[in-house]
Amino acid sequence: MKIITPATETDFDKYYRLRYDVLRAPWQQPRGSEIAPDDATATHALMLNEADDPIGVCRLHLPTPAEAQIRFMAIHPQYQGQGLGKKILTYVEEKAREQGAQYITLQAREQAVPFYQRAGYRVVAKTHLLFGEIQHYQMRKDLIK
Ligand SMILES: CC(C)(COP(=O)(O)OP(=O)(O)OC[C@H]1O[C@@H](n2cnc3c(N)ncnc32)[C@H](O)[C@@H]1OP(=O)(O)O)[C@@H](O)C(=O)NCCC(=O)NCCS
Repeated sequence: MKIITPATETDFDKYYRLRYDVLRAPWQQPRGSEIAPDDATATHALMLNEADDPIGVCRLHLPTPAEAQIRFMAIHPQYQGQGLGKKILTYVEEKAREQGAQYITLQAREQAVPFYQRAGYRVVAKTHLLFGEIQHYQMRKDLIK
């Protein structure tokens, strides 16, 4: 297993394929819905297995110098529950620190809330319903105490 910053077209194909397969396809969303307009200015993390297949993705973006936002966090279903989500989360948190962020915010799907709580995030507010059914919660973790 390794985590890379996607750089080539092949890397980005793998990155967006996993995003789509885990976060969009199960809700019959169209291809292209996995791409965000501000992806070009974000930091991306791609986890690959021994065969270089994509098994994890995560995105970091700083809307202000102090705030880092995590979005599009996904582990391939066959690789969930093995500590890999924690690994890629720790990796992007380190990137946030390197970029000078003081805290991280994210919108967690309800079923992922315990995963983020385990990593030190707290629920700030109940927020939107995605695709009419996935309840989200805003969560936050301070990087500087
Ligand atoms: C949520 C997700 C990213 C977690 O990744 P993962 O690789 O399965 O999680 P890990 O194995 O790294 O778990 C890390 C810790 O969180 C805990 N955890 C993970 N999911 C949990 C859950 N649903 N309930 C309770 N604890 C959970 C693990 O037990 C582990 O605890 P430990 O540190 O004491 O061992 C992954 O399951 C996933 O991609 N889900 C589908 C897409 C999704 O919901 N993405 C998040 C969008 S906000």
